[in-house]
Amino acid sequence: MAGPENKELVKVILDRIRHRGKIPFVEFMDLVLYHPQHGYYHSPRQKIGPEGDYYTSPNVHPIFGHLIARQLRQMWELLDRPSPFIVTEMGAGKGLLCSDILKYCQSHLPDFFKNLLYRLAEQSPSFVKEQKNLLAKFLTAGKVTWIPPHVLLRGEKPFTGCLLSNELVDSFPVHIVYQGQEDLQEIFVTHDGKTFQETMGSPSTPLLQEYFRSYACPLEEGQRAEANLKALEWIEGVSQTLQRGFIMTIDYGYEAEELYHPARRQGTLLCYFRHTTSTNPYERLGYQDITTHVNFSALRRRGEIFGLRPVGCTEQYKFLAALGLLDNLKKGEKSSLHPSSPEFLKNKLAMKSFLVPGGMGTLFKVFVQSKGLEEVNLLGFRDPFMRPNNNP
Ligand SMILES: C[S@@+](CC[C@H](N)C(=O)[O-])C[C@H]1O[C@@H](n2cnc3c(N)ncnc32)[C@H](O)[C@@H]1O
Repeated sequence: MAGPENKELVKVILDRIRHRGKIPFVEFMDLVLYHPQHGYYHSPRQKIGPEGDYYTSPNVHPIFGHLIARQLRQMWELLDRPSPFIVTEMGAGKGLLCSDILKYCQSHLPDFFKNLLYRLAEQSPSFVKEQKNLLAKFLTAGKVTWIPPHVLLRGEKPFTGCLLSNELVDSFPVHIVYQGQEDLQEIFVTHDGKTFQETMGSPSTPLLQEYFRSYACPLEEGQRAEANLKALEWIEGVSQTLQRGFIMTIDYGYEAEELYHPARRQGTLLCYFRHTTSTNPYERLGYQDITTHVNFSALRRRGEIFGLRPVGCTEQYKFLAALGLLDNLKKGEKSSLHPSSPEFLKNKLAMKSFLVPGGMGTLFKVFVQSKGLEEVNLLGFRDPFMRPNNNP
């Protein structure tokens, strides 16, 4: 067994397995990540950033939040400048994206800032604590409030604005299935007295068959794949809470045809521990994150049923470039920092990392849906590399 393990968490899971014989993988993953006392996301240890297990875009450079802020401002305009325009960010982690957006709007987009309110919906108490510390100034000014995620998803606090998330959907617990010769099987977790073991059985819910019929693609015999049923519930919930406006989902993933392509025979599940990855979710329980790639087709198709119109889906680097990342890089060259100083180079490298092929910028997609609006052209979906016609 590599690395540390939360013994209390293991005991909770073993009790559950002893009682029931086996539990679906989705239940195992839910306990490992979200058990209210011992789950990974409830531990106070650093999870994101250099001292944690992985980086996310807001940790790389504040320019990420600044460019998203420009997109939010255009959304406000397209909605005829409502007051308030509410950005509800779900799964905000340390709160960096919120902080960067609010600071940028305050200094660069004052008309928008006046009408902007920010709400955070976060399930992890340790992250809520970090968010409240980081955002103390905006909290005192009444710019930021918190809403329990279940209240948001029940549609009790409808709003006009944008529902924003970065790397939320990839962290939802998933079912895992295996396509047998005859039928679809589900992966369950059991224990042989020494280690956790996987075993197969009939699907624990008929929703899995329905998922592969309506939101994914048929699998080949011998193929293993994940089904994120929670993502379907989530998009349904947020579509009911959003009265008018946008849902901006930033995450890694693919359209169904690519996600469930037979070349990806083992699925996409990946664990993160101190900046290393593994495909074994049965080790370092409570100390490692577990994620899977997002099925954007499922969000689109399910969203359409609930009145959401797909606006666009593109790679993150194109979205950021269309919002001005390249100009910001050029301006960086004229910054007051000396071009050979470590700060200058660090700053520039961090910004450039959003453009590196195979890096965050190409791995991540930005997917936007709208509600209550006709067709719109968002700045982030313009072609960032198109030359004006009169240019040689
Ligand atoms: C991978 S982290 C991303 C954090 C942050 N967005 C960032 O980019 O740094 C996933 C975040 O989603 C939160 N989360 C997961 N499931 C959630 C749910 N059902 N409701 C609200 N937050 C959730 C986690 O607690 C965590 O803050």
